[in-house]
Amino acid sequence: MTAVYYFSGSGHSRAVAEYLARKLDTEHIEITDLTPPPSENIETTVIVFPVYCQNIPAPIIPFLKNISTPKTALIATYGGISRGNVIFEASKLINSTLTACAYVKTEHSYLSDSTYFDKSALSETVKNITLCVRHKVIRLLKNPFADFFPAWRSRVGVRIKRLDTCTSCGKCTERCPMKAINNGIPSNKCIRCLRCVSECPSGALEFSLSPIMNSYLNR
Ligand SMILES: Cc1cc2nc3c(=O)[nH]c(=O)nc-3n(C[C@H](O)[C@H](O)[C@H](O)COP(=O)(O)O)c2cc1C
Ligand code: SF4
Ligand code: SF4
Repeated sequence: MTAVYYFSGSGHSRAVAEYLARKLDTEHIEITDLTPPPSENIETTVIVFPVYCQNIPAPIIPFLKNISTPKTALIATYGGISRGNVIFEASKLINSTLTACAYVKTEHSYLSDSTYFDKSALSETVKNITLCVRHKVIRLLKNPFADFFPAWRSRVGVRIKRLDTCTSCGKCTERCPMKAINNGIPSNKCIRCLRCVSECPSGALEFSLSPIMNSYLNR
């Protein structure tokens, strides 16, 4: 049996996970800090997650370390800027044979909320997941500065503002993967994944990019 797990800030990786689950005729399950590791009757775990500042998003590292199904496939979505070396790094955290991997280009979360993605990268991946052949992951070059304060760089580049329409419903507090927001007010643990912005039922959170971030993303 195959299960598809995903982590997603603003829905891009969720769309890829939904697509893969449909192709593999299985369900897709969100990774939260309460998600148990895949059960013993799962043969292959497929994990879909975004590249954040050329790194693996911090909230999924404990889940990756708990993977012990016989086979795993790693799918990383990225916004067309830089992929870092996240699949290689994730492959070192899992205790399982890697049978497939892919980097899937999506829109950048800070530039578009369209969940369009490049499906061509996935047809070979679906075949490999089904065939279960051992996959050798290639180590990519990573910007040597990528590991320096990635969360801090996001916070400086992206501002989140609470609007007057906030009803103090608590949904952002409940859904934040970093436990970094209290009824619309983010703390300095925030990694700017934008989940609170995209899931606020009142549209009461707005984000803006600093001029440097804006010109970096649009260069
Ligand atoms: C905090 C943050 C950091 C990001 N860093 C990168 C990056 O280093 N390189 C890149 O190409 N895209 C980057 N992106 C874009 C995302 O990787 C891309 O939009 C991804 O599909 C988002 O998936 P999600 O909506 O499931 O979180 C970043 C997005 C966020 C929110
Ligand atoms: S989810 Fe939106 S409305 Fe609810 S507390 Fe957070 S910011 Fe306010
Ligand atoms: S507060 Fe920050 S880390 Fe939490 S959901 Fe919002 S953007 Fe993501």
